Amino acid sequence: MSEKFERGYMLGNHNLGLDLMRATEAAALAAARWAGRGQKESGDGAAVDAMRAVLTGVRMAGTIIIGEGEKDEAPMLHNGEKVGSGYGPYVDIAVDPVDGTRLLALGMRNSIAVLAAAESGTMYNPTMCFYMDKLVVGAEAADAIDIEAPIGDNIQKVAKAKGKQPEDIVVAMLNRERHEDLAKAIRAAGARTRMYTDGDVAASVAAASSSVTSVDILAGVGGSPEGVVSACAMKAMGGRILAKLHPTSDEERQRTIDAGLDPDKVLDTNDLVSSENTLFVATGITDGDLVDGVHYLPGGGARTHSVVMRSSSGTTRYIEAFHHLDKLNAYAQASGQRLKEL
Ligand code: FBP
Repeated sequence: MSEKFERGYMLGNHNLGLDLMRATEAAALAAARWAGRGQKESGDGAAVDAMRAVLTGVRMAGTIIIGEGEKDEAPMLHNGEKVGSGYGPYVDIAVDPVDGTRLLALGMRNSIAVLAAAESGTMYNPTMCFYMDKLVVGAEAADAIDIEAPIGDNIQKVAKAKGKQPEDIVVAMLNRERHEDLAKAIRAAGARTRMYTDGDVAASVAAASSSVTSVDILAGVGGSPEGVVSACAMKAMGGRILAKLHPTSDEERQRTIDAGLDPDKVLDTNDLVSSENTLFVATGITDGDLVDGVHYLPGGGARTHSVVMRSSSGTTRYIEAFHHLDKLNAYAQASGQRLKEL
């Protein structure tokens, strides 16, 4: 080694998450134009197209394992679709170009563009079982939870693990009729609820983080794709997700079994993503607990706020980026017709 380059601090291997962040930024920038316009599909479509366009240039041989959109026939990046340049690492990809399409359409808080990645062959594929029952906590309470035990027991144990009283415990869930009994049981155990209109990826990250919000647990039924995406974040945060597939009809249950999945099996973080090298990337579309949304700037540019987590190094980076007007126009072009409709 020459004298000029003395061996000092060595950078780890390439962080693909920073490249993938450009795809969530593009999705957020394209989708944000639709914030508060009351059109779920258009915002989602713009995000999908912009994300796909940027992914093409990322140096990786990616396969979409979890594409989003099948549940409600929304626009999507298809399961099995190949993304990236075709060179570089082989990776499984889970995308959610807009988590919280309704939030976006209504201009409400907490809609984000999300992408997770892991080594090829390590991501769980829930196939056509769209919902999962979930229980998510951060590192301090990772050993305290049991998805098959009553929520009251979980609250007691999480409180103990975190050195809190049950009265201090806040349980996040999607605000759905199906959660009425769960909410009653949480309150009966002395704890409090925090209802999210939509977006249980951001809520899961909040539950696992002591810095994002005061949420301690995420509980209840949400999307299966979002469960796998959240698992990639848990690996990086040291948190834990326990889940069980939640078929909503006998037909869906049978389809799940026919696909070789066991709807009664408790899925741990490792079952949802077995790789120790996971990436979780999110960019805010509307302002939220996890990241700020897209802010348009005087003169035509915009500011984005993203988070990039990487399990192999345990790093979490929050990145603020300023985008020139030309860049915004390029993303607008990438998302084609749908933005011209504006
Ligand atoms: P979309 O952005 O695809 O609409 O998902 C939003 C969301 O709230 C997810 O975060 C959550 O997992 C799922 O929907 C819950 O589904 P449902 O709205 O049918 O209860």
